[in-house]
Amino acid sequence: MSDGPSMEDLYAKDPTIDTTSIPDEANGSKPEPALRYGQPLPTEWIPLYRKPMRTPTRKLRVVTIGAGLSAMSLAHKFQHEHQLGDILEHTIYEAQDSVGGTWYVNVYPGVACDVPAHIYSFPFEPNPDWSAYYASGGEILEYFNRTVAKYDLARDVKCSHRVESAVFNEEKGKWELQVRNKERLIHDECDVLISATGFLSHWRWPSILGLHDFTGNLCHSAVWNTDYDFAGKNVAVIGNGSSAIQIVPQLVEEVGHLTNFVRSPTYITPGLGSAVIGGKTQHIYTDEEKQKFREDPEALHEYRKKIQAGSNRSFDMFVKNSQAQTLARQYTAGMMKKRLDNDEDLARKLTPEWEVGCRRATPGPGYLEAFTRDNVSLITSPIQRVEKIGIRTEDGTLRPFHAIVCATGFDVSHRPPWPLIGLNGLSLSEAWKDEPASYLSLAAAQFPNFFMFSGPNAPVGHGSLMSGLGWSAEWMCQWLRKIAAEDIKYVVPKQAAVDEFNAYADEIMQTLVWSGGCRSWYKNHRVDGKVTAVWAGSVIGYREMIDQIRPEDFEIVYRTRNRFRFMGNGRTTMEYDPKADLAFYLDK
Ligand SMILES: Cc1cc2nc3c(=O)[nH]c(=O)nc-3n(C[C@H](O)[C@H](O)[C@H](O)COP(=O)(O)OP(=O)(O)OC[C@H]3O[C@@H](n4cnc5c(N)ncnc54)[C@H](O)[C@@H]3O)c2cc1C
Ligand SMILES: NC(=O)c1ccc[n+]([C@@H]2O[C@H](COP(=O)([O-])OP(=O)(O)OC[C@H]3O[C@@H](n4cnc5c(N)ncnc54)[C@H](OP(=O)(O)O)[C@@H]3O)[C@@H](O)[C@H]2O)c1
Repeated sequence: MSDGPSMEDLYAKDPTIDTTSIPDEANGSKPEPALRYGQPLPTEWIPLYRKPMRTPTRKLRVVTIGAGLSAMSLAHKFQHEHQLGDILEHTIYEAQDSVGGTWYVNVYPGVACDVPAHIYSFPFEPNPDWSAYYASGGEILEYFNRTVAKYDLARDVKCSHRVESAVFNEEKGKWELQVRNKERLIHDECDVLISATGFLSHWRWPSILGLHDFTGNLCHSAVWNTDYDFAGKNVAVIGNGSSAIQIVPQLVEEVGHLTNFVRSPTYITPGLGSAVIGGKTQHIYTDEEKQKFREDPEALHEYRKKIQAGSNRSFDMFVKNSQAQTLARQYTAGMMKKRLDNDEDLARKLTPEWEVGCRRATPGPGYLEAFTRDNVSLITSPIQRVEKIGIRTEDGTLRPFHAIVCATGFDVSHRPPWPLIGLNGLSLSEAWKDEPASYLSLAAAQFPNFFMFSGPNAPVGHGSLMSGLGWSAEWMCQWLRKIAAEDIKYVVPKQAAVDEFNAYADEIMQTLVWSGGCRSWYKNHRVDGKVTAVWAGSVIGYREMIDQIRPEDFEIVYRTRNRFRFMGNGRTTMEYDPKADLAFYLDK
């Protein structure tokens, strides 16, 4: 017995459908005579696109740069949540020889996450087996690799491929790429370019006179020399950002003497979300707890929600002059002094005058306690220069060292260290030489079909980044669907939209502690000036702002002279599905 006509049968019966070709260029040549109703054809005329409405005219080629958490969140959307294989093909270029980004690269002793592991997890892959409330870098990398393997997220990744240049060809509407692998320089092309290069992936040496004159072991936290044996050595650690705060308590256990050079004080706070573990610095999950999470996914869900809600609720602390901020300052200063064994001098040198959270608030178990040991010194006299054997401070003292650890941070200018060239030959590095200015952290004026994860002013300052990366990927998927389905050549944020967003966001920023009195990488390592890294508002506010794309903020350039070519033959795909309910809109 026949099942009735198939979709193919219905297509074949329709004289307005042509299934044999996908025209790539369709302004078409005008018919002879070029008349309609006896009048010349309108200038907007194009030939009929003989496909159902919204049938893509080409498969988009999408290239993503970087294979850390951001790119893997995107790959999961493409491959699983939205199954976009019909409308796009994806390549991910990763410069390192493995996926993992931050968690593959940073292997210094003590590297760990200061966000509770249960919310620093891919939203689509809760992990009942986290060993501790705050997980180590190694455990995060294992979880990352396991998840990537489970969902085949590295399917489109090419490791050891560094993108060296990307130039937008406006006529073709394509990005032209140069990518270097171990053997050669490859030329590639794509319709849409996505930067997932991370906001803390370009490490740099500090600008200290004579740094490279040092003849001992010189290293940076982000390129740790695992072969160097620190045991018994006289070691300098420069900096007291989150990296140094994790390194110091580990190194003091093995070195002979450790000297921490601290240029500015910083708050050592209770861990984010630590209320859930009674304010403790760490909690190791018992086998029973892990078993419960494994066997009862709803219990795990509730637990994760509790941590996430607490983290979002704590945003109050980031509002200047709020009661939560005042309490946080009093509490943190008191707690720091206690952990410094009530040493007035140390407390004075290490406790800031500015708002808690202005610089990244870091828990740092063991960091303050380290200064109460005999083999640790704190030096706050500014570094004058590095010499062959050690570090000379401005008070004239030269201290000799076997090793200098620069835990001195990253290039956070958001300027790509390679040519990324948009419309009219404009390089992103040049456009952002004074201040980087994004569209909602996700795009840039003059850079068509270019999207970014965690670009300037992204929600990197409070709570877990994970959900935000998923929302950003979702926003990109909305654009990709639209570009594919509506026959769009390129989309680019309007300059006015970017300018207005930055001006307004900056107004909000004045109410938040990130614009406070500290020097921080959130302000591109300045004390004053625009906050360039952090989203102006809460994480939930970010979600609200990017939940739906706002095409009104974009210039949209179509592939033909008529934006409505995507109407195809005027009918929708569902009408060719013999089983579809074609009265779906009759609700009652
Ligand atoms: C030591 C450290 C600890 C951190 N701890 C926390 C934390 O506790 N909580 C938190 O929320 N965040 C933390 N962060 C921030 C962390 O970077 C983000 O949470 C997250 O890992 C960023 O993921 P990503 O995929 O966006 O970028 P990354 O993980 O930085 O990955 C970017 C990738 O892009 C690649 N890449 C860059 N340029 C190119 C190019 N030209 N061609 C090809 N590939 C390229 C890099 O090799 C890298 O693999 C930490 C960062 C550091 C450095
Ligand atoms: N626990 C975690 O989760 C974790 C761990 C590591 C990193 N991270 C992330 O990575 C970010 C960066 O952390 P980071 O510690 O690597 O870098 P950072 O926060 O930028 O800190 C750099 C440190 O080096 C000092 N410094 C820089 N140049 C110097 C110079 N020329 N002379 C003397 N001191 C100098 C800085 O002093 P000034 O303060 O005076 O500038 C600062 O103390 C963190 O904020 C966080 O977002 C997180």
